[in-house]
Amino acid sequence: MAMESLGVLLLHPMNAYLEQELDRRFRLFRFWDSPPDGRAEFLRANASAIRAVVGNAGYNADAALIDALPSLEIVASFSVGIDRVDLPKCRERGIRVTNTPDVLTDDVADLAVGLAIAALRKIPQADRYVRAGLWKAKGDYTLTARFSGKRVGIIGLGRIGLAIATRVEAFDCPVNYYQRTKKDYPNYTYYPSVVELAANSDILVVACPLNEQTRHIVNREVIEVLGPKGVLINIGRGPHVDEPELVSALFALDNVVLVPHVGSGTHETRQAMADLVLGNLEAHVLKKPLLTPVV
Ligand code: DGY
Repeated sequence: MAMESLGVLLLHPMNAYLEQELDRRFRLFRFWDSPPDGRAEFLRANASAIRAVVGNAGYNADAALIDALPSLEIVASFSVGIDRVDLPKCRERGIRVTNTPDVLTDDVADLAVGLAIAALRKIPQADRYVRAGLWKAKGDYTLTARFSGKRVGIIGLGRIGLAIATRVEAFDCPVNYYQRTKKDYPNYTYYPSVVELAANSDILVVACPLNEQTRHIVNREVIEVLGPKGVLINIGRGPHVDEPELVSALFALDNVVLVPHVGSGTHETRQAMADLVLGNLEAHVLKKPLLTPVV
């Protein structure tokens, strides 16, 4: 099969380089070119040509999209998390799925540590204080809490969780963790439940994939046990946290640090993620082993 005959449906304008290269190497369909109420017709019109879908953490191959694409052979996700891909359906239909592991681990771990320090040292509030002219006017600012030495509890000691652990060790932070199975890490303390982990941590970091077992893994009880001085860092997905519970407990507070979905958002990582997507699609066309297969 010639490269340019692979019809690729890009679900969202996620990365300029990726879009340009998909357009150059394959036959690109941009989903957003058709209005939302014209998408069913768009899919019907192009169903036989579209053999690949490129999605991301926000838009991906759900059951309805897969059902609308009878010629679909591969879903190449521009993300490590594939919680929005209907994996059982892909398995059933023999559709291959790839993601972008490893290349984003460092950036996501860096951001987790940055957020913890920002929350404890009140960096966003300090920035607002200076911009409002208050530092100049008063010459004084509230004291904050130290990061070094704080007990860090990590939910999910996978690639990203481990990268966070090694970073915070450099700040003399004891590392605790929870996940379904205990791992053989003598320097890290295992807790068999998230509540016990939260009770023994100052900073709780969500670093696990989203699935039915981890949805709402942080609920009101966990927040209460973490306590008013505790810091919650969610570098996973929104639904990891029982959001209405969290909103009622914390959201109104000034000490919440909010960032968009940007854990992997550096030039270096997004380029590497794009190259993995492109490499997986090319491998598929050439019938070579996929670079980062999930299914
Ligand atoms: C991922 O890759 O799953 C991250 O959420 C960044 O998009």
